[in-house]
Amino acid sequence: MSNITFTMLKPDAVGNGHTGAILDHIIKSGFGIVAMKYLQLTPERAGQFYEVHKARPFYNDLVKYMSSGPIVAVILTKDNAVEDFRKVIGATDPAKAEPGTIRNLFAKSIEANAVHGSDSDENAAIEAGFFFNRFERF
Ligand code: CMP
Repeated sequence: MSNITFTMLKPDAVGNGHTGAILDHIIKSGFGIVAMKYLQLTPERAGQFYEVHKARPFYNDLVKYMSSGPIVAVILTKDNAVEDFRKVIGATDPAKAEPGTIRNLFAKSIEANAVHGSDSDENAAIEAGFFFNRFERF
């Protein structure tokens, strides 16, 4: 089990002014920040990040949406980080997310769902490496 996970605060969450509230919620849930960046993805970079979903019907819209405005990319640390963070963010579809989870509190739709969270230790390492080199991690 690894102790890192990767998250992005997505364009809807940042654009709606929820950056501070979401980071506060994450920190109060027991996660530490290893690395953080405020940036806008190009459509090409968003497409690479979500390459695994390329065959899905929502892929083109997802790429357009994820490159539509600034995001906050963050590496988080905690024991059992991947699994615990997925509990903190709730289900992909905010309509199905448990009360008090980040997506329940802040997300608008299944696409504009406020935050991303890695689904495995392997993907957490890949996703963290997509945004950060070792000199950018503390
Ligand atoms: P995320 O956890 O970042 O992983 C893939 C993303 O694709 C997901 O959050 C949503 O933003 C988006 N997504 C997943 N399922 C759907 C869907 N059925 N329709 C539209 N977007 C989706």
